[in-house]
Amino acid sequence: MSVAELRNGALHVEGVKLADIAVQHGTPCYVYSRAALGAAFEAYRAALAGCDATVCFAVKSNSNLAVLNVFARLGAGFDIVSGGELARVLAAGGDAAKVVFSGVGKTRDEMRAALDAGIFCFNVESASELERLNAVAGECGKRAPIAFRVNPNVDPKTHPYISTGLKTSKFGIPYDDALALYRQARALPHLDIRGIACHIGSQLLDPAPAAEAAEKVLALVDALAAEGIALAHIDLGGGMGIRYSDENVLPAADYLAPMLKVLAGRRERLLLEPGRSLVGNAGLLLTRVEFLKHGEEKNFAVVDAAMNDLARPALYDAWHDIVPVVPRAAVATAYEIVGPVCESGDFLGRGRQLALQEGDLLAVMSAGAYGMAMSSNYNTRPRAAEVMVDADRVHVVGRRETVPEIFARESILP
Ligand code: LLP
Repeated sequence: MSVAELRNGALHVEGVKLADIAVQHGTPCYVYSRAALGAAFEAYRAALAGCDATVCFAVKSNSNLAVLNVFARLGAGFDIVSGGELARVLAAGGDAAKVVFSGVGKTRDEMRAALDAGIFCFNVESASELERLNAVAGECGKRAPIAFRVNPNVDPKTHPYISTGLKTSKFGIPYDDALALYRQARALPHLDIRGIACHIGSQLLDPAPAAEAAEKVLALVDALAAEGIALAHIDLGGGMGIRYSDENVLPAADYLAPMLKVLAGRRERLLLEPGRSLVGNAGLLLTRVEFLKHGEEKNFAVVDAAMNDLARPALYDAWHDIVPVVPRAAVATAYEIVGPVCESGDFLGRGRQLALQEGDLLAVMSAGAYGMAMSSNYNTRPRAAEVMVDADRVHVVGRRETVPEIFARESILP
């Protein structure tokens, strides 16, 4: 599904022309569609109808306050990985009681903040973290709700950088250590054992690995129950993939069906932590062609967005569709779509057949997830503006950064 639609020769998001957004708000600019966010969330809700389930949006994929607020209003929970993300969720009106806290390196301060906020559960990823959390909770006079994130050693068949459930991964605790660690947790006074979690990877297209992970997790739940450790919830993480080019992406209900079949008849609450599938195709990056440059072997379209704005192509060789905002009826040429950053790896797309002129606008599609969230100030480039379209209205939900803001934290020697 694409968030933009060609109508009367111009690309629109909902009722708004992208060209108008570029004129009013400048480029590069991330554009999100409120309707698309809502539709993606509804697809989960419908797929989970009749289950006791909470969808916890993975904040890391897009942490813009307006995006978080849209999901909060729809009743979502949140999956966070830092104190910063917790603060964002609270600032956006999210319910702390629906927050799960993942991540391998939670600091004492982050633990304290999450305990104070009253989050739903800490997904504990090591024995050392367990000890630290117990100590911090004791100091705060609280009991920390916990789940262990187990590593089910399931191959999610995705990019190695985003496979997280294999034995070689830094995430989670080894499957075979889980029983011993739960026994250890039971003996600690400031912890409350609540559930179990896993997350096997991202951009998953085949539903079988998630179902296999669910089976492995359930085997542990039952083994724990036999020892008198009853778990109230099962968190099966995120990972459902989206369509970037021609991937065969199942609707949420079909992707989740094999997993839900494994869970049928269980009494534990189900938690999911989707990120990409809720926001990825609800956003695009709007950019303008600064120069066309005809090299000896290649043609370059130098655009005003770069790897600091959208790191995925440079980092993972990820493919994003790139489409003209007002298509031209001219012969297309193969272009390298590159940014102004001083790195050969600074490209948004390679060998794209486009009919372009300088000043043209391009939309880099499927940029709602891990786009702005992974942006940086490399080359002292201010971060892009962000707008959210709601029917025929455009709201600035992230003002374009300024250069003085970038160096405001810095100081020179006296
Ligand atoms: N839960 C946990 C514990 C995670 O580590 C992640 C993603 C998610 C949920 C959400 O996964 P999703 O539904 O978005 O697949 N920057 C990479 C993706 C990194 C994913 C990291 N973990 C990219 O741009 O492809």
